[in-house]
Amino acid sequence: MKNLNKMKAVVGLYFSLALALQFIDIASCLEWKNSAVLDNNFLVLWTPGERDIVFEIQVKTQGYVGLGFTRDDRHVGADMVIGWVDNNSQVHLQDRHVKDSNRDPQMDSSQDYHLLLGYENKTHTVLRFSRQYDTCDLRDLKITNDTMQVVWQYHVEEPVSAAGVLPPHGAVRGSRPLYLVQRDSQPKRAMRNHEVPPTLKTWNVLNQQVKLPMGQDTLLWCRVVEMPSITRKHHVVKYEPVIQPGYEPYLHHMTLYECRGRDSDLEAAARMNGSTCYEPNAPSLQCTAIAATWSLGSEGFNYPPEAGYALDPNTGPRYYMLETHYTNPMLDNFISDSSGLRLLYTDQLRTHDAGILSVGIDPNWRHIIPPGQREVVSEGHCVADCTGQTIPESGVNMFAVIMHTHQLGRKVRLRQIRASEELPPIASDTNYDPNYQEYRRLQRPVKVYPGDHLVAECTYSSESRQTMTLGGVTTREETCLISALYYPRIELSLCYSLPSLPTVLQSLGIQKLKQGATPVIIEAPAELAGMTLEERLMHYNWETSFQSFQEATHRGTFKPLCWNGKGEVLPNTDTQEAHYPRILRPYKETTLPCAKKIPRNKLSRIFGEDGDLGVPVDPDSDEANAVERGQLVRSKVSRSSEGPVTGSSATIRASLFLIIAIIVSILR
Ligand SMILES: *[C@@H]1O[C@H](CO)[C@@H](O)[C@H](O)[C@H]1NC(C)=O
Ligand SMILES: *[C@@H]1O[C@H](CO)[C@@H](O)[C@H](O)[C@H]1NC(C)=O
Ligand SMILES: *[C@@H]1O[C@H](CO)[C@@H](O)[C@H](O)[C@H]1NC(C)=O
Ligand SMILES: *[C@@H]1O[C@H](CO)[C@@H](O)[C@H](O)[C@H]1NC(C)=O
Repeated sequence: MKNLNKMKAVVGLYFSLALALQFIDIASCLEWKNSAVLDNNFLVLWTPGERDIVFEIQVKTQGYVGLGFTRDDRHVGADMVIGWVDNNSQVHLQDRHVKDSNRDPQMDSSQDYHLLLGYENKTHTVLRFSRQYDTCDLRDLKITNDTMQVVWQYHVEEPVSAAGVLPPHGAVRGSRPLYLVQRDSQPKRAMRNHEVPPTLKTWNVLNQQVKLPMGQDTLLWCRVVEMPSITRKHHVVKYEPVIQPGYEPYLHHMTLYECRGRDSDLEAAARMNGSTCYEPNAPSLQCTAIAATWSLGSEGFNYPPEAGYALDPNTGPRYYMLETHYTNPMLDNFISDSSGLRLLYTDQLRTHDAGILSVGIDPNWRHIIPPGQREVVSEGHCVADCTGQTIPESGVNMFAVIMHTHQLGRKVRLRQIRASEELPPIASDTNYDPNYQEYRRLQRPVKVYPGDHLVAECTYSSESRQTMTLGGVTTREETCLISALYYPRIELSLCYSLPSLPTVLQSLGIQKLKQGATPVIIEAPAELAGMTLEERLMHYNWETSFQSFQEATHRGTFKPLCWNGKGEVLPNTDTQEAHYPRILRPYKETTLPCAKKIPRNKLSRIFGEDGDLGVPVDPDSDEANAVERGQLVRSKVSRSSEGPVTGSSATIRASLFLIIAIIVSILR
């Protein structure tokens, strides 16, 4: 009998211990890995786990709150979770989906969000819940490494009954692109108010009242600055944008480059406030290796604890160049900007010096994107010769990747090929959003060894364009660049490629040009013989010839371009022609099959409408996309719509003229 009581006591103690532990567990979970302020009243915190993600939303309302996910910035098709705390302090959480923008999110028959915690205080409603990356429910969206559009919705009132009929009007809604899985850990909320830990020093690299030229929609502004006056090596461990309030719309990206060259030239340049970049009469500086880069939508970058960017007055560069890409599509007048970057550095050195390797297509007219196509794939190569010469036997570790295209970019991948085997992509985004460019932190560093061949692969949609788009640095031109942060630092800095001239001609269906003829005349194939190059380009039928164009650009030869941090071409890599790597073992993506599930929730069985699930709903399908945008509130960060191209035939002629002029000059 005594024993039994003792046992009871032990069991009781055990349970209360377990309870206490659970409580501690919940409390310690407050170390969130990620946070984002969605609007001034809506904070989301989350931590990606092995199989699921734990979210907490803290919303300044006592009504209902909701968070959801879609692939584009519309609410229709969104997978949503709606919750509230009712007058009896009972917490409600419902897995729903948006089928019709004019109606409330409807209940899913399978409830896949799990409530962990919920409460309401005088000002806020707080809900904590988890869900699996792939819930196996067609109503839910898989959370992947892709860019996700996060949508939110909240209201001052809560539903009148547990069934959750939402108040008819007055919901606040928004959406914003975010990486949920590979987001770089953002500063904790307490650190948000620009408090800098005492061990960190600040280096502000700012523009000085740059005046955007009237009537011009793009300005590339370059300013040279000297490094802070330090006497020994430091590590930059974090950087962030400093944007003049209200000027966000004019900033497209900012990149800080390391400069090499004569100190006197650099010193002179640093005394100026800057100038338009890459002007023929601008001082020629060798500023090519990237030190820091910020793009639209990003909040900055934190280096992982094992690495930092070295600032070394003795062996490193002493001058840097800030390149700011301004954009002014509405041609606003009298814009004068002083934005820039803030770098935080410390003398408490980390184990490794980090470097940035940029892989892609050299921004050049030979990168051609035909108009009116749903998918155009372009590839830039970092060949085995370049990695072979520069990467040590022990390899380098890539830990973060940022992708960069202009407005037509839809998918981007950084592929890795080793000894004719294609490994899983280092990074991949099948839902890339050109208006959200930010470093993605890889879950674990990826090794790159000497002899690896890297491919930056960009997929564009040119349906909005009636004319060819060429590669280049202005916003209307396109790029395909991927920058990867890695350690330990090596000499290789830019690893690009450029389609060869024969590849360009072949992609346009031309086999041979007549030697020395003016205007340039085609000699082969026979059916084009005698035609001028201009006639050919004017009448090129992309509709019928797109596939052969794509095939020719994919298989054609290219010129590899490998530069070191000093802007010098690496020896023995200056070959004219390189080929697509041989891939004997291609990479195959494996998707785990989903287990069929049964509805668990009584409410959802009553209110769920699954009649339409007989045909699987693909949120990307044309039907889903065809639904009217309705009266949805669009986010601050929304896809900028491209206006119709004005003077399009002039543009065609201009780009054709450019191509012809360049081909002619090369042939001479
Ligand atoms: C209510 O909770 C939120 C979120 O935890 C907190 O930010 C806020 O200060 C709290 N308000 C009050 C009045 O306690
Ligand atoms: C993201 O990518 C990593 C590495 O490729 C992979 O291991 C992981 O499963 C991916 N995560 C999700 C949620 O797809
Ligand atoms: C909850 O209480 C508030 C204030 O006491 C009241 O206005 C509201 O109607 C109540 N809501 C429900 C669903 O009973
Ligand atoms: C640089 O800009 C500042 C602030 O606009 C101005 O006072 C200064 O004269 C400028 N210096 C030069 C060399 O243009």
